[in-house]
Amino acid sequence: MLFSKKPKHLSLDPNRIPVHVAAIMDGNGRWAQKRGLPRTAGHSAGSETFQRAAEHLSDLGVKYFTVYAFSTENWKRPPEEVGEIMRLLESYLRRAVREMREKNIRLRFFGDLSPLPAELRALIEETDAISQTIGGMQANICLNYGGRAELTRAARLLAEDCKAGRLAPEDITEEAVSARLYSADIPDPDLMIRPGGEERLSNFLLWQNAYTEFYFTDVLWPDMDERLLDEAIAAYQQRKRRYGGI
Ligand code: IPE
Ligand code: IPE
Ligand code: MG
Repeated sequence: MLFSKKPKHLSLDPNRIPVHVAAIMDGNGRWAQKRGLPRTAGHSAGSETFQRAAEHLSDLGVKYFTVYAFSTENWKRPPEEVGEIMRLLESYLRRAVREMREKNIRLRFFGDLSPLPAELRALIEETDAISQTIGGMQANICLNYGGRAELTRAARLLAEDCKAGRLAPEDITEEAVSARLYSADIPDPDLMIRPGGEERLSNFLLWQNAYTEFYFTDVLWPDMDERLLDEAIAAYQQRKRRYGGI
């Protein structure tokens, strides 16, 4: 094909832009291997794609963008790959510290950050502090995150509150559980995008995705450009959300 006739952007209904978009950033390794590059080159390209995606969604009026960057299961990978992912996160955050105010995108982190390298944790604290002063879209980066670990943590927090007499077992409502998740103060995702061809949740936002619309595509995450994101949102805009009603 000499040139593409596809317009760069699809026309989206401005009144049905999802408030919260989630994405499983999968397919980085295969993207690199297809090009004869080391898997880590795919993670590097994937972090660029995250930045572009965040800016695009922010321009569209999305309020929350939650991405799966490193799961509680990803520690099973070879230590060299894990180390390289941590270094890439550090260099991403170093840039974010400089640029996030100008881009007007707040960053937050969901997951157990305690086992992360000290350098990375220090950068996370720095971005957290800057984020307090930013009013734009909130991007939540899930790091050492697992849906089961998050729910287990919530159960432990509830048990501690009961034990201390701050909470009665009969007051353990859905709201009480939600309030103890990393996402306590934000709405559930409206749309969850999984590129990379796998059609599973891989332990991502198990509670929050209860009524989320899913969009799966074979495109690998580093190739998810603005137009492909628009296609996902256009598909979302065609969905009928019933929440169990009729
Ligand atoms: C997702 O890409 C990034 C992380 C899990 C850190 P993968 O590294 O899983 O890429 P594939 O699925 O092997 O292509
Ligand atoms: C999910 O991708 C986790 C992230 C993208 C961070 P994986 O590549 O780890 O998922 P599986 O192993 O294919 O389920
Ligand atoms: Mg994968």
